[in-house]
Amino acid sequence: MNYSYLMKEMLDDELYRHCLYTAEAAVSLAENYGVDKEKAYLAGIVHDYGKKYTKHELLKKARAMGLSLDRITRRQEKLLHAPVGAALLEEELKIEDNEILKAVAYHTTGRKGMSLFEKVIYLADKIEKSREFEGIEEVRRIAGINLDKALLAVIDKAICSVLDRRLLLHPRSVTFRNSLLAEIEENDYN
Ligand SMILES: [Fe+2]
Ligand SMILES: [Fe+2]
Repeated sequence: MNYSYLMKEMLDDELYRHCLYTAEAAVSLAENYGVDKEKAYLAGIVHDYGKKYTKHELLKKARAMGLSLDRITRRQEKLLHAPVGAALLEEELKIEDNEILKAVAYHTTGRKGMSLFEKVIYLADKIEKSREFEGIEEVRRIAGINLDKALLAVIDKAICSVLDRRLLLHPRSVTFRNSLLAEIEENDYN
């Protein structure tokens, strides 16, 4: 199946462009960190599949699939499209690769002990070429040298922005951040 074509057909222009750029950023990180480039491209291009549905539709579909969601995820659309999107990729597009599904499911909150592949997709989504935030050039530079340090910079920003907007902070983002710090410390020590 040509997933790029499929996404272009299904998503609006802006979202499709973001998915395409995420796929491209994922390939370049994959190259750098030795993960499967083709799979990284695919995960990048489909990672926001859930965004083609409204919050109401996502909740309805999650119920129909028997997907259990925690209270915070249920309440926040920004989080909801990730786990439900992953389940829908399996259900509707028949994508069965577990690494891809997990990378999609956790691309908003992150999680403790993320695989290298999941980290590549998480970061690619946040630093693809159309993204803008203060200090992004520096994060892009670090991304070429130290994946965990670039991720830490990105998750710190994301957590601060959640606090600034007085939104619910998902505990998985906190454990993701703490696990990154531990991994960075361990690697710096060795
Ligand atoms: Fe997303
Ligand atoms: Fe995204």
